[in-house]
Amino acid sequence: MQVPEQWQEHIAQLKQLKGAVILAHYYQLPEIQEIADYVGDSLSLAQKATETQAEVIVLCGVRFMAESAKILNPDKTVLLPALEAGCPMADMVSAQQLRALKEEHPEAIVVSYVNSSAEVKAESDLCCTSSNAVAVVRSIPPEQRIIFVPDRNLGHYVASQTGRDMILWPGYCPIHDRLQKAEVIACQQEHPQARLVVHPECTPEITAMADAVCSTGGILEYVKSSPDRQFIIGTEQGFLYTLKKNCPDKEFFIARSGFSCPDMKLITLPVLAECLEKGQHSITVPEMIREKAAQALQKMLAIRP
Ligand code: 13P
Ligand code: SF4
Repeated sequence: MQVPEQWQEHIAQLKQLKGAVILAHYYQLPEIQEIADYVGDSLSLAQKATETQAEVIVLCGVRFMAESAKILNPDKTVLLPALEAGCPMADMVSAQQLRALKEEHPEAIVVSYVNSSAEVKAESDLCCTSSNAVAVVRSIPPEQRIIFVPDRNLGHYVASQTGRDMILWPGYCPIHDRLQKAEVIACQQEHPQARLVVHPECTPEITAMADAVCSTGGILEYVKSSPDRQFIIGTEQGFLYTLKKNCPDKEFFIARSGFSCPDMKLITLPVLAECLEKGQHSITVPEMIREKAAQALQKMLAIRP
């Protein structure tokens, strides 16, 4: 089978046969976004996972996204088509390291970014995504100290928006953290009319320059409702496919060439077809960890931004 249309037809048949729903993140390859039943940011993927009636959830994204879907749906089968699709930032803090930090600051509440392992979520009071991080932190009583893991950049951005005292873990996204001020300035010189819209995983130096700082879902809403026509985008380049599809009359420029998350690109049409054919790779989370992690995720889902 060579032609994408043939793969798409094959996957559509398998999906029906297996009673599966395909959820995909905005950073996935265009052909995966096209075949998906739903495409969204990490918050909306977690929400969709709780709403679906399908028995099998295929999560086209990275491991923490599939794990979150499983934590919220223990009785469903959750498949991650590429088992090795991880998030390097999620691996930057372990449950053991978080326990040690909690011992140092026993008075603090722990907020973990969803880009973390199930074990880290189980050690947390609350989770957040980049869409709701500010609202999650605002929901915590003002006098309360907060430990925030693992993203120092998102943590810094949230602290700047809320004025809260936060203990930040020094993790970061290797893809977003690499964006340099000089690259953004060069792009702005080339496109002087363009608005700069960046993801909060970028460094404080970059977020301070931006017209807007939002999650992927937030960026889509921003560009849809903006009267401007040109935008420099400071996040993973796969997202430009969604932006162009939703706003064909607007222009988008990536802030840096090669702004790509290799883990997000591991899922291709043949990999997705094999996942459905063989029912691989089924995500499991030990029940003791799942129960605690579910509490942190459910508290997050109850907070409206
Ligand atoms: P979103 O929550 O904006 O989808 O971001 C997830 C992510 O991994 C960004 O790098
Ligand atoms: Fe993780 Fe960064 Fe890839 Fe997002 S872009 S999945 S934070 S490595």
